Amino acid sequence: METIFDGMNFLFQVHARMAWLLIVSSVIVLWVASLFKIIHGSYSLPKGTFFNNLKNGGSVNKRNVLFVVAHPDDESMFFTPTINYLTLRGHNVHILCLSIGDADGKGITRKEELYQASAILKVICNVVVEAFILARYNVVPHQQVSVLDHPNLQDGFGKVWNDSILANIIEEEITRNNIDSIITFDNYGVSGHCNHRDVHYGVRKLLQASSQRKIEAWELVSTNIFRKYSGPVDIWLSSLNPMQSSHEVVHCLLNEQPRKSFLAMAQHSSQWVWFRKLFVAFSSYTYVNTLKKM
Ligand SMILES: *[C@@H]1O[C@H](CO)[C@@H](O)[C@H](O)[C@H]1NC(C)=O
Ligand SMILES: [Zn+2]
Repeated sequence: METIFDGMNFLFQVHARMAWLLIVSSVIVLWVASLFKIIHGSYSLPKGTFFNNLKNGGSVNKRNVLFVVAHPDDESMFFTPTINYLTLRGHNVHILCLSIGDADGKGITRKEELYQASAILKVICNVVVEAFILARYNVVPHQQVSVLDHPNLQDGFGKVWNDSILANIIEEEITRNNIDSIITFDNYGVSGHCNHRDVHYGVRKLLQASSQRKIEAWELVSTNIFRKYSGPVDIWLSSLNPMQSSHEVVHCLLNEQPRKSFLAMAQHSSQWVWFRKLFVAFSSYTYVNTLKKM
């Protein structure tokens, strides 16, 4: 009896091991295939219909896009696929960061890190190009990255950010930079951080208030925990998403340069610890953004 039992036990262990091997190798194959798809996708660059409406002359209508985020590093950690998509197509990208991220007293450093990350993401480079052109016409180039240190908008859990104050600040930024489109968090804010969620409600407030103006706003869709940590594999899952919600306008943007997410995040040296490195590798937000019209 005992030998039969041992035999079965042995078979079961072999089985379990093979099942594990199969699962692990499938995941690896899926990762590699997904990465290949993302990188290969970048060869056919001008595809995609997002912000790609043509002017009468046939050239793409260049937008002035404002990213509204809560902390320095939100732009690199969550929005890189969209920022890359836009800068590669020549749109003007602006960032409004509503706090210096001073929860741990590193705010001053983090503000500088945001400028460095923006340079990697080619957000400030637009200023350089423009400055060259604008110099001839003696015009001061506008600042494309604004970081706020407002007494009522301080970084931290449990700090409530007033949506009226937010809406006013965002509106000023829109007017100052002639913004026509906004991209921000959705009402869960990817990680559920209250500052991210409040930023969303600030943009909502603004949209309600200035309904007569033609500001187009998009929110970054927060995914469930399984998709969130599926890395590049999420490109398949998120491309199914737009079909499900046919009544909503949804765009799914692949990161044409996933390396840039790492390079940009690495500029945030004070935040670039091992678990954030892991996060950037495994997070689907490094590889794909799903945007929904607000
Ligand atoms: C937000 O600020 C506005 C004006 O500053 C004020 O009227 C309003 O009561 C505040 N809202 C909350 C929830 O504190
Ligand atoms: Zn944040």
